[in-house]
Amino acid sequence: MIVGPTRKVLAECVRAATAAPSLHNSQPWRFRIEEPATEVYADPARRLRVIDPLGREQLISVGAAVFTLRLALRQARYRSELELFPDEGEPDLAARVTAAQPASSNPAVEALYAAIPHRHTNRWPFAQSAVPADALEHLADAARREGATLTVAGATARDAILGLAQEADRRLHELPGYREELARWTAGTQRDGVPARAAGPWDALESMPVRDFAELSGLPRRSETFEPYPTLLVLATHGDEPADWLRAGQALQRALLTATWLNLATTPISQPVEVPAVREALAAPDAGRFAQLVLRVGYGRQVAASSPRRTLADVLDPA
Ligand SMILES: Cc1cc2nc3c(=O)[nH]c(=O)nc-3n(C[C@H](O)[C@H](O)[C@H](O)COP(=O)(O)O)c2cc1C
Repeated sequence: MIVGPTRKVLAECVRAATAAPSLHNSQPWRFRIEEPATEVYADPARRLRVIDPLGREQLISVGAAVFTLRLALRQARYRSELELFPDEGEPDLAARVTAAQPASSNPAVEALYAAIPHRHTNRWPFAQSAVPADALEHLADAARREGATLTVAGATARDAILGLAQEADRRLHELPGYREELARWTAGTQRDGVPARAAGPWDALESMPVRDFAELSGLPRRSETFEPYPTLLVLATHGDEPADWLRAGQALQRALLTATWLNLATTPISQPVEVPAVREALAAPDAGRFAQLVLRVGYGRQVAASSPRRTLADVLDPA
């Protein structure tokens, strides 16, 4: 008889999953343990209705948590079965991860699992040195294994993305309710949102589209020069349905943890995918490729800029 993981083990896997990245650190997830399964829900109260009206980025965030949960379960020596949207009657139930037969330890799993607490969004300038091609290939492979593509933007595409991102940021600022929504997620509630300390400096040349999470804080900002030729990657999927958004999130987290393991700093950049016309320009929907997110990678300085997380009791339904 196969002995499945205890509730305590599954709860520890959920705790690991809460370290996943999420749009504005909204942590838009809830978990329910039904041994040997863990259910992951999208929390409608935590959707950003102004910049994410369809809940696409919410499901990318939930997907990132799902990948982390699967990884933690694998580190606890269980293979798992994954079902996306397993119950038609419950649209908020995004995924069910069921522990299956035991597995032996694996150095690749250990390395990715060890990266979980070290991964964070770095909004500071990166070094000008190029990211080696084999490191970029590792990142692309990580995304591919989760059913998505991660493509390096060449010089022309990079310049186009930087321009499109600036344009998208301007248009987002004109949306009704934009400031109020940003204020909600930068107010410093201790357990969610992006604190001013994680915002990073202002780009002296105003070319890097790092989202300015301190713009409403009223704090004096330092400005610094960012790397002139950033390495930008476009995360894309073959479809554009909710299940594809969950796949994109899993691919994102697998690529981010791989980058962390390779000592690379990362910044997700989503303004360009939040304006439909700009998003279309980033990938080729006609060719069956839909852009889900832009990722900046490079060699960053160590910054003590972690963002808070809600506790296990906040996100896990009681037994
Ligand atoms: C779907 C998605 C979109 C994001 N977009 C941006 C962005 O445009 N700019 C940015 O600086 N960070 C972005 N992030 C990073 C989040 O702000 C970050 O994950 C969150 O604040 C938690 O902080 P941490 O990544 O340091 O743990 C995004 C993350 C996700 C999952």
